[in-house]
Amino acid sequence: MEAQLLVKIIHMSAAGLAIVAILARAMTLFIGTQGNLPNPVARKPLVALQHLAMAVIALTGIIALFLKNFEVQPWFYAKVILFLVLISSLGKAYKKDDSILLVQRRAGLVIAVISLIAIIALVIIKPTFG
Ligand code: HEM
Repeated sequence: MEAQLLVKIIHMSAAGLAIVAILARAMTLFIGTQGNLPNPVARKPLVALQHLAMAVIALTGIIALFLKNFEVQPWFYAKVILFLVLISSLGKAYKKDDSILLVQRRAGLVIAVISLIAIIALVIIKPTFG
């Protein structure tokens, strides 16, 4: 199989995995919370799944960039920025710090989900700017 197609399939599968991980982990901010902290049940597997998915997305994304000789559309830059927003808001939502209120964590999650939806919209619509 052509390398570019294989990398793209792995990239998109990891994106699917990331969606599952983010939605599954989101439930820990609503069910069985402990004070200001998320539900500790299944924390480790959920963290592992989310980290694995994000790492594979970033790695295969960078490999895909090289395979395409960095010839990307303008929307690609928006996607990378949204990916950074996604990572940082998830980090805020699940930080192990009791002083972060549950409502702040949920706000972080909302920003993460909006970023994720925007990324998915970008890769589907592939808008032309300018
Ligand atoms: C949650 C985040 C992400 C999602 C959901 C996602 C999803 C996708 C999808 C569905 C495609 C295929 C688009 C198509 O050809 O029709 C794609 C392509 C691509 N993505 Fe991502 N992506 C994400 C993050 C990233 C990141 C962080 C990078 C860069 C480091 C990246 C780099 C690329 C590149 C270069 C391609 C083009 C591959 C090719 O045409 O061969 N992606 N992405």
